[in-house]
Amino acid sequence: MKSALITGITGQDGSYLAEILLAKGYRVYGLVRRSSSLARNRIDHLQRMSASSGERHHGVLQLVYGDMNDGASLRHIVDEARPDEVYNLAGQSHVRVSFDVPEHTADIDALGTLRLLEALRETKLDVRFYQASSSELFGARDALPLNESSPFRPRSPYAVAKLFAYWTTVNYRESYGMYAVNGILFNHESPRRGENFVTRKITLGAASIKLGIQSKLVLGNLDAKRDWGYARDYMEAAWLMLQQPAPDDYVVATGESHSIKDFLSEAFGCLDLDWQQYVETDARYMRPAEVETVIGDATKARRVLGWQPRTSFRELVRMMVDHDLGQLRKEVGSSLLHPEKLV
Ligand code: GDD
Repeated sequence: MKSALITGITGQDGSYLAEILLAKGYRVYGLVRRSSSLARNRIDHLQRMSASSGERHHGVLQLVYGDMNDGASLRHIVDEARPDEVYNLAGQSHVRVSFDVPEHTADIDALGTLRLLEALRETKLDVRFYQASSSELFGARDALPLNESSPFRPRSPYAVAKLFAYWTTVNYRESYGMYAVNGILFNHESPRRGENFVTRKITLGAASIKLGIQSKLVLGNLDAKRDWGYARDYMEAAWLMLQQPAPDDYVVATGESHSIKDFLSEAFGCLDLDWQQYVETDARYMRPAEVETVIGDATKARRVLGWQPRTSFRELVRMMVDHDLGQLRKEVGSSLLHPEKLV
């Protein structure tokens, strides 16, 4: 049985990756932080399936306590789990929030990666390491689409921290011969996306408006353009990156770019609503420095990994809207519902 350690397993990407690995028969160790509230709804179903026999999941899931700011805990986990593959997905992933908590973002996203790589180096395991790098590394660029050779120019504390992690990964590959790769993933969304990222905020907002729970949706910059794919498709690419004969870095993107306005039009359109009647903008959701347009070129991932996105923009938006409408319908009347709280 192959084994993998996933940091950030309770997040959108971690939960999809865990599903993929369990279906392949892996023993999956998921790093979780100790906290007073248990936010594990994305992996509850996996824990239940892993505990019961006869399911289509053949692998085993085990959660282990640790923290990216605690190198000793990482060393201990690596030593115990002795994983074949490590996927570093943990981090403070919200770009605008990184302007409010730059030090924390750097500690977890940048130094956390270094601590994990050091733990792997010290144990001298023959391990393959995946680093969740980001299209935010490129920042504002004139030459589009972006590929593995495009220069980096980060424009937020988040992107600067990710840049450190990117180069640390390359450095451990070159210095110590480690199988360490960067997946430079462009925006990837799903019904499991955090509620304060723009796509999920829109689909939840539109569904709430449709059900009469909320009267308006307040956003920031509506002109920004993103290359949005489906997170599950992107986690397939992450796995493929660790199955190659030699380590390398890959861009993962759809090659299509849409504005926030396009997303609004598609999402509200799914519910027969005109977004312009409900959407307002507020400076508090704007960023001190914005990345206006993002579009990726995943030619290398297509050629070398044989990967391609399987979910179109329209299918993605529809999937998210349908999910949120269904979820809100179930929650209507329950105390769980606080739609206006979204940030
Ligand atoms: N979050 C948010 N909230 N974004 C808004 C809003 C709003 O109310 N209104 C407009 N936007 C704009 C942002 O200014 C940005 O241009 C765009 O919507 C996308 O914002 P996010 O969904 O927060 O994503 P991101 O592009 O900043 O970063 C995401 O993708 C990166 C690439 O994969 C994050 O997931 C990063 O962690 C990831 O690295």
